[in-house]
Amino acid sequence: MTFLDTQKISEKYKKQDCLWGLKPNKYVAQIPKTIKSGTVLDLGVGEGRNALFLVKQGFEVTGIDISKEAVNKLLKFAKKENLDVKGIVLDLVDFEFNHKYDVILSVATLHLVSKDKVIETIRKIKSHTKDKGINLLTVFTKKDIGYKEYPNLYFFNENELKELYKDWQILKYKNYIKEETHGEPHEHHICVLIAKNRGHSSNNSLYNLD
Ligand SMILES: C[S@@+](CC[C@H](N)C(=O)[O-])C[C@H]1O[C@@H](n2cnc3c(N)ncnc32)[C@H](O)[C@@H]1O
Repeated sequence: MTFLDTQKISEKYKKQDCLWGLKPNKYVAQIPKTIKSGTVLDLGVGEGRNALFLVKQGFEVTGIDISKEAVNKLLKFAKKENLDVKGIVLDLVDFEFNHKYDVILSVATLHLVSKDKVIETIRKIKSHTKDKGINLLTVFTKKDIGYKEYPNLYFFNENELKELYKDWQILKYKNYIKEETHGEPHEHHICVLIAKNRGHSSNNSLYNLD
C-alpha cells in the first residue's frame, strides 16, 4: 500500500519524455569514489538516471518502482544505450530481500511509501547491505512545504536518519534546500545520508565527499 496516487505518477511519466532527467543525483555520482564495483539495489528507481549511471560504472543494478511506466522507461533508456539493468514493478515495501547488496540507494522516494512501513523498510535496507557496503538515502524533512499538506506522508526529522544509522560510519550527512524546476518552480527540504556498514573489521578512515 502506498499513499502515492500511482495513476497520477503514471500519467506524469507518460506525458513527459524524461521527468527527472538523465543526469545522476550529485551524491549518487560520488558512490564510485567509495566503492568500486558490486551489486546495487535502487528503490524507487524512476526512469533510472541513477541506476544507469551506476551500470555505466560497472555495477550490477536492480531497480524497483511502483510505476510500470517508470520501469518501462528505465528499460527503454537502458536498451537505447545497450546497458544491462534489471527492472521490477513493485511497491518497495513488499520487496522480499533474499540476499545482501553492496549498495542500496533510494533517492527522493522513502517519504512516499506507507507511513507505517518507512522505518521497518530502512531497517531491512540496513540488514541487507553487505559488510563495508553503502546506503545512500535522500528524503524530505519536516521543513518541507508538503509537510502540512500531506499528513499521510512520512516527513523526516532533520536528525532522524543519523540516529537510525548511528551504528554505521556516516560518510555524508546534510540537510539542504533544493530548487526544483519540474512543473511550477518550487523548493524542497531534503536530507541526504551516505553511510557505510562498518562490518566486522571496521576502521575509522575519513572520506572526503563534497
Ligand atoms: C521523485 S521520483 C524519484 C525517482 C528516482 N529515484 C530519481 O532520483 O530520479 C520517486 C519515485 O518513487 C516511486 N515510488 C513511490 N512510492 C513507491 C513505492 N511505494 N514503491 C516503489 N516505488 C515508489 C515513484 O513511482 C517515483 O518513480
